[in-house]
Amino acid sequence: MSFEPSDTLDMSSPAAKRASYALLVEQARALLTGERDWLANMAQFSALVFQTVPGLNWAGFYLARGEELVVGPFQGKVACVRIPFERGVCGACARTREVQRVEDVHAFAGHIACDSASNSELVLPVVHDGRLVGVFDLDSPEFARFGAEDQTGFEAAVQVLVEATDWP
Ligand code: SME
Repeated sequence: MSFEPSDTLDMSSPAAKRASYALLVEQARALLTGERDWLANMAQFSALVFQTVPGLNWAGFYLARGEELVVGPFQGKVACVRIPFERGVCGACARTREVQRVEDVHAFAGHIACDSASNSELVLPVVHDGRLVGVFDLDSPEFARFGAEDQTGFEAAVQVLVEATDWP
């Protein structure tokens, strides 16, 4: 298979963001079509996001293992390996199964600083058939990097991953 992702997506205005996330979703679908292995698809998905979405210093997965998250496929600097559900932004997402959009991580009680360069964060639950597979975590060195368009865009992209994959 040959797949050429777009260059860096244009996120310079809300309208540009909406168009860019539509393209990201399309690209995720094209990239994952024909492969249903969860490990391959999570790895490819995190690479696609990190390669094309500007303003990120980390993008990847934490996998649900009992009441704990364990780091999965990701792009960026080495990260914390295990995060209990009761800790951090990722833990809050796993516990509530709700998207966590944090404009300033330093103001989030219990935030886990894997990289001191991170200033804002977006974490989305990955749920299949009512079961929490894990979370998709995005970090940015910019404050308030993630707005409503980013959340909606990534929710749609994660849904493509969930549907394109056979989960263990
Ligand atoms: N900041 C996260 C931990 C994961 S790293 O950012 C990759 C948290 O508070 O859950």
